[in-house]
Amino acid sequence: MNKSDLIQKLFDKGIFVTKEMIEEGLDEKLLAEIDDVNIVQDDKNVKILSLNHEIVINFENEGYKYNVQDFQRVFTSRYKFLHDLIRTHKSMKNIISIQRLKRKKDREHVSIIGMVSDVKESKNGNLIITLEDPQSNCKAIIMKDKDIFVDAKDIIFDEVIGVVGTGSDGVIFVNEIIWPDIPHNRSIKMSPIEEHAVFISDVHVGSDNFMEKEFLNFIKWLKGEYGGALQKQTAQNVRYLFIAGDCVDGIGIYPNQQKELTIDTIVGQYEAFASYLKQIPSHIQIFICPGNHDVVHLAEPQPVFFKEYTQSLHDIENVHLVSNPSMIKVGKTKDFDGINVLMYHGYSFDYYVANIDSIRNNGGYKRADLIQQFLLKRRHLAPAFKSTPYLPAYEEDPLLIKVIPDIMITGHIHYSKVANYKGVTVMSGSCWQACTKFQEKLGHEPEPCMVPVVNLKTREVTVMDFS
Ligand SMILES: [Fe+2]
Ligand SMILES: [Fe+2]
Repeated sequence: MNKSDLIQKLFDKGIFVTKEMIEEGLDEKLLAEIDDVNIVQDDKNVKILSLNHEIVINFENEGYKYNVQDFQRVFTSRYKFLHDLIRTHKSMKNIISIQRLKRKKDREHVSIIGMVSDVKESKNGNLIITLEDPQSNCKAIIMKDKDIFVDAKDIIFDEVIGVVGTGSDGVIFVNEIIWPDIPHNRSIKMSPIEEHAVFISDVHVGSDNFMEKEFLNFIKWLKGEYGGALQKQTAQNVRYLFIAGDCVDGIGIYPNQQKELTIDTIVGQYEAFASYLKQIPSHIQIFICPGNHDVVHLAEPQPVFFKEYTQSLHDIENVHLVSNPSMIKVGKTKDFDGINVLMYHGYSFDYYVANIDSIRNNGGYKRADLIQQFLLKRRHLAPAFKSTPYLPAYEEDPLLIKVIPDIMITGHIHYSKVANYKGVTVMSGSCWQACTKFQEKLGHEPEPCMVPVVNLKTREVTVMDFS
């Protein structure tokens, strides 16, 4: 087998061949060892890096005329999944159905699980929540002088919660609220391999506010041609790039957008976007999901980009087009389960910034971390039905967060943020677009060209600034 065949074979198995390996000479014996494993070997002379990835969650849909039963099925699946999570909580003893609560004549200590169908404030400032289970509904009262009242103010329509308190006759006075959430005691997964993953979003190619010079510097950095010695060294270890939607500016997305476009066809915008991606070294695997500016329908899950407009992207071998939302596992080896990355563009975020006091009053659009935490706590990407257009095309609610991610990357709000929530690295990609007139009117202050880089071995995050 000649050298180029060997390199090809390694590539086929998802192994990146470094310069050092070629200099050292590729060893047939090593290849034989490689055959049945996912390659993790890192010694003084030979550096072998895994390029494994697996698309864990990806939505496709054929499209049909939806009816009430479709929404009913999706909501029932939501209730069931979240109910089963909540019922395992240590506080959820004495769980009874709402029907049984209605039959109780004497007040007793009980727990109820229900979907929120109404939230009202009484004349005295207490909260009155209507909870539904599959058979019936009841009122849950949260008194304004309780410690839980602050958290209770964040309760929204259509989320599923557990309540613990004293109840009878169809009314429960709440002492504790239980959200499905993610467990506290999760350990942070660390890859055995020194690999880096890079996260961006909202490139908006085609807009006259697209920051091309800065984006080209970012690509130069990925090629090892930009930045200081340390930054160039980091670039060498980059194996994955995630792009969380709004790749192009699109056409007719907001009023008078055409006056702010430099490329006025959708195909032209994707061709320009593809021309940038083609410059990225081919050993970097690129995962792209759509956003609300991209050429797919707005209802979520948004499928992979329609081929007729984006052939140029489909043609790039190291580009993997996925749905919004989606989950991708990277860095899996024989002994390591890999890092699960949840990608969601974040179209539902506008609703939560506008409607949730604890988000709006603590930074709003500048606090993607608070929104992500809010959603992880509810194990759903858009718990309020009104928060995003929704496609009931699946057996189960597609926006449930069923698999707990290790990393969650979102976009849409054009403001960079990195935080940790119970072992999940939550990140918001910034953008590559200066403030548009439309954003200015809405009071947005974008923070462009910030790039979080995650070392999968240490899980450290470095945010690079290309502005
Ligand atoms: Fe955007
Ligand atoms: Fe967006």
